[in-house]
Amino acid sequence: MSKGWTKNDIGDLTGKVIIVTGANSGLGYETCLALAEKNASVVLAVRNLNKGLEAIDKIKAIVPHANCHAMQLDLNDLASIREFVHQFKARYTSLSILINNAGIMASSYQQTKDGFESQVGINYLGHFALTGLLLDLLIKTPNSRVVSVGSLIAHKTKPQFHNFKGSKSTKPLKYYGESKLACMMFAKELQYRFRLSNISTKSIASHPGISQTKLFARGSRKLSKKLMRVSLNFVGQRAESGAYPILYAATDPSIRGGEYIGPDGRGGSKGEPTELEILDELYSEHVASNLWKLSETLTGVKYKFKSK
Ligand SMILES: NC(=O)c1ccc[n+]([C@@H]2O[C@H](COP(=O)([O-])OP(=O)(O)OC[C@H]3O[C@@H](n4cnc5c(N)ncnc54)[C@H](OP(=O)(O)O)[C@@H]3O)[C@@H](O)[C@H]2O)c1
Repeated sequence: MSKGWTKNDIGDLTGKVIIVTGANSGLGYETCLALAEKNASVVLAVRNLNKGLEAIDKIKAIVPHANCHAMQLDLNDLASIREFVHQFKARYTSLSILINNAGIMASSYQQTKDGFESQVGINYLGHFALTGLLLDLLIKTPNSRVVSVGSLIAHKTKPQFHNFKGSKSTKPLKYYGESKLACMMFAKELQYRFRLSNISTKSIASHPGISQTKLFARGSRKLSKKLMRVSLNFVGQRAESGAYPILYAATDPSIRGGEYIGPDGRGGSKGEPTELEILDELYSEHVASNLWKLSETLTGVKYKFKSK
């Protein structure tokens, strides 16, 4: 891994079609901006189409040649995910990189349209379904990748993936941790299944450390928002740098598949993207395989690993 990696190290991405979920703000926006600068064809998968179009205007003000397109995707609803995939396949014949970035944190107890606790449903199950429905396109696109976004909080989370409906009495952060750990386990398990089926698509996990985005303010109560902003400025990094582990996982030629990329600084809250070992310690074949089966049952999306 080269020292001092920045988005300027990304090579030319002409001809690559890339989907970024949660693309209108924070890390997703910064990721799209960097990919557009390198000539990728970027699909901003957004819950609110107007916000997606505003994000494209912002990108085009910086990168006039940007090739960006906004498409509606609500990860809160399996029907919306299916519709997104349907529309995407009608328009594109390849998919080089899928970046499963969208997320919510510590929101008060709610269920998704399909009855999952909302953080687990949006952050994990929605992306599980999305990836499964796009799998054929990923498999047939040479050198394709899937990037999942985890979190530091998941490093200390126990894998208890059994109650995805949730309950009011459980602390919201517990579900956030579980949802992010599930994303990381999924990334490892997906890579394992690609290798087993002799498929060259790569799956990589990443985490952004602590990054200055709207994520924390959205989840917290109004009173703590100011405090949150001050502490974020102190311990966190700018959203642009927070996107580097995602961008590195998505584009660096050294990636083999199965890595976990995060910031190299003290405590992992900021720094340059580096390969981390902790996911190998957290990963359990047994747990990941059970999680996979449960996710297929809950979403109704069965993965078909057919090589080209
Ligand atoms: N910031 C950090 O320090 C940090 C640390 C660890 C992990 N992460 C992860 O990084 C990812 C990006 O978060 P961020 O920090 O950039 O926060 P953010 O600025 O709040 O961005 C979150 C994005 O997700 C979208 N989203 C939320 N619910 C959605 C849904 N139902 N369907 C589709 N999109 C939805 C949001 O769209 P709207 O604008 O329409 O709500 C927004 O674009 C998340 O997965 C988060 O867990 C962040």
